Amino acid sequence: MSFDRSVKIAPSILSADFADFGREIQAVEAEGADWIHVDVMDGHFVPNLTFGPPLVKAIRKHVTTVMDVHLMIAPVDPYIDAFADAGADILTAHLEAGPHTHRTLQAIRGAGVKAGLALNPGTPVEAAGPLLDLCDLVLVMTVNPGFGGQSFIASQVEQVRRLRDMIGDRPIHIETDGGVDPKTARSVVEAGADVLVAGSAVFRGGSVSNPAPYGENIRAIRQAAQG
Ligand code: DX5
Ligand code: ZN
Repeated sequence: MSFDRSVKIAPSILSADFADFGREIQAVEAEGADWIHVDVMDGHFVPNLTFGPPLVKAIRKHVTTVMDVHLMIAPVDPYIDAFADAGADILTAHLEAGPHTHRTLQAIRGAGVKAGLALNPGTPVEAAGPLLDLCDLVLVMTVNPGFGGQSFIASQVEQVRRLRDMIGDRPIHIETDGGVDPKTARSVVEAGADVLVAGSAVFRGGSVSNPAPYGENIRAIRQAAQG
């Protein structure tokens, strides 16, 4: 996984057919997805429940790009090894998930996985400052985590801009997640984001038997993002 700041579209399988993840992943990759974003929710840190390490391991063999695993769970540390063994390329933990995020990021890297730090909309990006040298990615949430299909929180664009200044020339991706579509993509990329997670805006209108809309949706987001 080499580093660059080109725009990457990361479809969230939260909006895919849960009974057919393997073929859904193959379909969005064939239609131009750069990364595959996997939303793990525990019904405690966020008010929704999705899936755990066995499912992540089962879908890993269908991912040929980058498996980007967003952990919306608390605590995080007891599950790091299981998600690393499941084959995550990136494991992203929330700053708000516990008091020892520094330790969590060290543990993720210690497990041989790239480390991501996620920030809820209510968290100032400046809180990430002391942790940046432990991060390969910072995820700025553009909705409150828990559900797909929510409205983009436009005030987060300014937070992305401040984070981009803080990062300088360090090789750290900036990812945004929530409400990203052709209308909102340009604003976050202009502010400095390079990885755009999109669930409903990628999967709407298509299916494994009719995947062409996935490609149209991905191209529309990418074109809008690049301006
Ligand atoms: C929200 C998740 C997102 C979500 C994005 O908690 O982290 O990845 O699936 O969905 P859309 O793109 O539909 O807002
Ligand atoms: Zn996510």
